[in-house]
Amino acid sequence: MNKLILGIESSCDETAAAVVKDGRDVLSNIINSQVDLHKKYGGVVPEIASRKHIETIDAVIDEALERAKVSLSDIDAVAVTYGPGLVGALLVGVSTAKALAYAAKKPLIPIHHIKGHIMANFITHTDLEPPFVCLVASGGHSHIVSVKDYTNFEILGRTRDDAAGEAFDKIARVLELGYPGGPLIDKLAKEGNPEAIHFPRVRIDKDCLDFSFSGVKTAVINYLHKLNQNNENYNKADVAASFQAAVVDVLCEHTIEAAVKVDTRTIALAGGVAANSTLRYKMTQKAAQYGIRVLYPSPILCTDNAAMIACAGYYAYLEGNFADMTLNAIANLQL
Ligand code: KG4
Ligand code: ZN
Repeated sequence: MNKLILGIESSCDETAAAVVKDGRDVLSNIINSQVDLHKKYGGVVPEIASRKHIETIDAVIDEALERAKVSLSDIDAVAVTYGPGLVGALLVGVSTAKALAYAAKKPLIPIHHIKGHIMANFITHTDLEPPFVCLVASGGHSHIVSVKDYTNFEILGRTRDDAAGEAFDKIARVLELGYPGGPLIDKLAKEGNPEAIHFPRVRIDKDCLDFSFSGVKTAVINYLHKLNQNNENYNKADVAASFQAAVVDVLCEHTIEAAVKVDTRTIALAGGVAANSTLRYKMTQKAAQYGIRVLYPSPILCTDNAAMIACAGYYAYLEGNFADMTLNAIANLQL
C-alpha cells in the first residue's frame, strides 16, 4: 500500500512543504527561501523569519499538494520539524501541522531536523540502506552520526562551539563577500591556493571526534587584522581557499575515523555544507583509501527542505511514532 506523507519544515529561514510517496518518491518539494529578506542583516533575524513563515506557509502547503496532484484527504500523515531551530519559526510549522492533522483526522508525526537532513540521502540514493555514518554539517549543526537503522541514530562527534556553516558565514562576512557565506567561499576558493596560509586544524583529544571551529575562525580574523594594521594587501581567494581547506580537512579526518571505528563502508554527507565542492571531492578521495564510498544528496536536498522531513516521517509512520495535539516546538531538541 502506497503511503503519502505531507512534510512541513520551518525551523530557520525556509518555509517548505513536500509530498513524498513511500519515503523516497518525491511528488512535490516546495521551498520558499527568505534569504533575500535576511541578507541585509548579514544573518537570519528570528522575528522576521517567524512573521514571513506565517505569511507564506498556507500557500506553500497548497502548492505542494497541488503539484503532487493530491488533496489533504489523500495524505496518510502530516510530518513536521519540531526542533531544533528558532522557536518562533518552528512554532509556525508545528501549529500549522497540528491544525491540518486535527481537521483532516490524520496522524501527526514529530521530526527532528537533523534526522531529516540525514534522510535526504535516502531520496537521492534509492538503494541506500543503513547502517552508515553521516556527517551533518549546516549553519546550526556539525554532527557525526552513526545511522544504525531508519530510526536509530547515535552521535559519535559534535561541535563544541561554532557549526561548520556558521564559520563559513562568519569568514565570508569578514572578507566582505556577502550572505550566506558558504557558497561564496566555495566559489572564490576555486581561484585561490589552499596551501597559501596554514590555518589550524583543531583536534580536541586523540580519541575524541568532536569538532571546534572557533580557533580557525579566530586565526583567520587575526591574520586579516594584522595585515590591515600594517596596511598590507592580501589575496581574498587565497584566504578563502586556505580557510576552507582547514575546515574540510578536519571534517574529513573525523568522519573517516568514525566510519573506520564503527566498521562501515559508507559515509553520507548532509546539511547545507554538504553542498561544498571541496568537501565532496576531498571526502571521496580520502575515504576511497579506506575502501569507503561517499554519498551526498542532490544540492536542493542539502539545504533545508520538507521532502527530507516527509521521508523521515514515512519511517516514523511505519513505527507508529505519532504525536498528539500537545506537540510543542523545542528549540534545543537533542538527537
Ligand atoms: O542546512 P542549511 O540550509 O540550514 C541549516 O539547517 O543551518 O545550511 C545552511 C548553511 C549556511 O551556513 C551556508 O553558508 C552553508 O550551509 N552552505 C555552504 C555551502 N552551501 C551552503 N557551506 C559551504 N559550502 C557551500 N557550498
Ligand atoms: Zn538544516
